[in-house]
Amino acid sequence: MLELESHVKLQHFVTVKELHDDQVRALIERAIYFKNGGAIPQFEQPVYAVNMFFENSTRTHCSFEMAERKLGLQIIPFDPAASSVKKGETLYDTLLSLNAIGVNLAIMRHQENEYYKKLIELEPMQKLAIGVVNAGDGSGQHPSQSLLDMMTIYEQFGTFKKLKVAIIGDLSNSRVARSNMQLLKKLGAQVFFAGPSYWYSKEFEEYGEYLEVDKLITQVDVVMLLRVQHERHTKETSFSAVQYHEQYGLTLERYGKMKKDAIIMHPGPINRGVEIASELVEAPKSRFVKQMQNGVYMRMAMLEAVIAGRHLGGL
Ligand code: CP
Repeated sequence: MLELESHVKLQHFVTVKELHDDQVRALIERAIYFKNGGAIPQFEQPVYAVNMFFENSTRTHCSFEMAERKLGLQIIPFDPAASSVKKGETLYDTLLSLNAIGVNLAIMRHQENEYYKKLIELEPMQKLAIGVVNAGDGSGQHPSQSLLDMMTIYEQFGTFKKLKVAIIGDLSNSRVARSNMQLLKKLGAQVFFAGPSYWYSKEFEEYGEYLEVDKLITQVDVVMLLRVQHERHTKETSFSAVQYHEQYGLTLERYGKMKKDAIIMHPGPINRGVEIASELVEAPKSRFVKQMQNGVYMRMAMLEAVIAGRHLGGL
């Protein structure tokens, strides 16, 4: 049985920013081990987890729940709309309540950037003892998506060094773009950005170059498309899906110009005919389905890292 590497033991899993590249590699190795049918740790005591999704989700929510079930965690149901958060209870007090009744882990998605800080950076009098796993915070971070993306790239190429990755689309609103540019740079890949200039800003400059989609499409190894996030656009007036697709989307014509071994990635959900031509969603170069499959195993590895870090279940 492959032992959990000693350096992947975390109190919380809220961002990829502080992860070292050897931790990322160890998590990928662990996720691949689970994917290949490796033995799952047997907990000596039950570990209780709650999934708290304040923003909509299909992939991340169900994938975390699948990962929890595969690990043998006990899941405590939580519906934000029916919870006392609706009566004004703070996130901290909600977790304090769940912790008091025995919950060990909170897997949370929330619309507020860095919502997790008030749950993990405790004042001396605060005693909250619950591991927080970030399933996406506003436009901040999406650690599980980013790590499953790294796993998918690693499975394809066996390395990150010198790989050229284009992140294309709604950059400023994307927690996937932020998490991925940070990890890709750390792992030695060369990052490029493309898409509408109004969704590009100076914060991306330290991670990669901004180029025209048509210049990038012929030379990159990974075409990473981002969802156009209409729900986060406050000033949007006249977005044209047809125009976006022609200017920045992966059309059939652009697909034909990609390198022979290049791959397409998209975190989902996909706006078909906008970021990508509908016919290309399951095309030979697309790794969309593989990304979702890998997500379960990577989330198992992430949950295990926090369970081990907090010495839960006898680990
Ligand atoms: N990729 C992603 O986060 O998808 P969901 O919003 O469906 O979880």
